[in-house]
Amino acid sequence: MEYLKYSIEDSTIAELLGVQNFSNDEAAVLELVKNAYDVGASVVKLEFVDKTTLKIIDDGDGMDSEDIKKHWMHIGKSNKGYNFIDTNNNVRVQAGAKGVGRFALSRLGKNIQLYSKKEQKDGIVWKTDWNKSTLDLDSSIDNKGTCIVINNLREKWTPKRIEKLNEYLEKTYNDTAMKIRIIANEYDKFVKLHFPKPEPGKNCRANIILKHNKGMLYVSVFSDEFSNDAIKYCPEVDIKTYNSEINILDEFEGNEIYERGRKELSSELDKLGEFSANLFFNLNVTKHDKEKFLYKYLSTDESVDSGVILYRNAFSISSFEGEKDWLGLGKRSRKSPAAASHPTGAWRVRENQVSGYVLIDKQQNIVLQDLMNRQGLDENISYQL
Ligand SMILES: Nc1ncnc2c1ncn2[C@@H]1O[C@H](COP(=O)(O)OP(=O)(O)OP(=O)(O)O)[C@@H](O)[C@H]1O
Ligand SMILES: [Mg+2]
Repeated sequence: MEYLKYSIEDSTIAELLGVQNFSNDEAAVLELVKNAYDVGASVVKLEFVDKTTLKIIDDGDGMDSEDIKKHWMHIGKSNKGYNFIDTNNNVRVQAGAKGVGRFALSRLGKNIQLYSKKEQKDGIVWKTDWNKSTLDLDSSIDNKGTCIVINNLREKWTPKRIEKLNEYLEKTYNDTAMKIRIIANEYDKFVKLHFPKPEPGKNCRANIILKHNKGMLYVSVFSDEFSNDAIKYCPEVDIKTYNSEINILDEFEGNEIYERGRKELSSELDKLGEFSANLFFNLNVTKHDKEKFLYKYLSTDESVDSGVILYRNAFSISSFEGEKDWLGLGKRSRKSPAAASHPTGAWRVRENQVSGYVLIDKQQNIVLQDLMNRQGLDENISYQL
């Protein structure tokens, strides 16, 4: 018997895993940012040198010749694990898992030079035009880290587009362990943390915290929605805090998924693992409604309006960056269009009234898997639940 290995056309792989795998160039840049995060960089610099060149520079662990041959040139197998502690004592969960992310480079540009150096090792330079790749030693590199030069950029990175990139990275990266700095001529900005600390009355009317564990949802609401006059009408109710425990299976009654039976669903919910969410509830009201419902504010001073983002540890998952109403809040409220004053309490939160994030973990929620093509999640039973 003979064992066989595929031999692959480099340009085909670059086209398939790079050019066609990303819905936009911002998502491709994010892949390279993730790679810098995964090797412990404290800063990654995205430097638009001129119209045709982008440099991505990190001060992470770097690579030597061995790493290039063993990992960089090995497709479809990631050498990454779960987490590690970086030099500033932050725990980082490595974003990499599939071993294909670097092909984002081929989406961005036609020629690549990668300079890299590991501590105590010789520097290297790797080059490709996506047909042929070469590796050389480079003794001129002094510090550890990696600098990727992308030439012949496919996209026109106008100042507007660069600002859009900043906004995209702000939403898709949710950690402070590594800083992202974007430079282009006069432009020089660090990407900010998107979500502020929830402060009811300041940036939301209510902060809703959800935690899931084994089919139970633990809900806490911290609210500053109603004026003190409201207490007169419901003296037994705490209008500032509300806690509740919900058995998720009960919520599924009448839903198509419930036909699978409680036993099966219960075991799927166990497998789904623990996760949490932190939501900002907000709405602008008319003066009339403010008086009628005893709301405390017409509007809050600040607002967080980005939809609900799904993060797996430090990074959001493609297609869940808050643009799409993936929780189906709009559908739910259209089915139940009652006004807030409806006596049955059938009013539903609208999609434009809630933002915030759901947080899942690489290990804990392993059943929620990214699609290989980076366009979202596998919509399996765990996803539906
Ligand atoms: N900036 C970097 N510094 C050091 N090593 C890097 C860097 N970028 C990539 N690598 C190495 O190249 C390998 C391939 O990266 P790639 O992004 O393709 O895969 P991955 O991160 O392991 O998985 P995923 O496809 O989920 O991103 C990485 O596992 C890592 O060893
Ligand atoms: Mg990666």
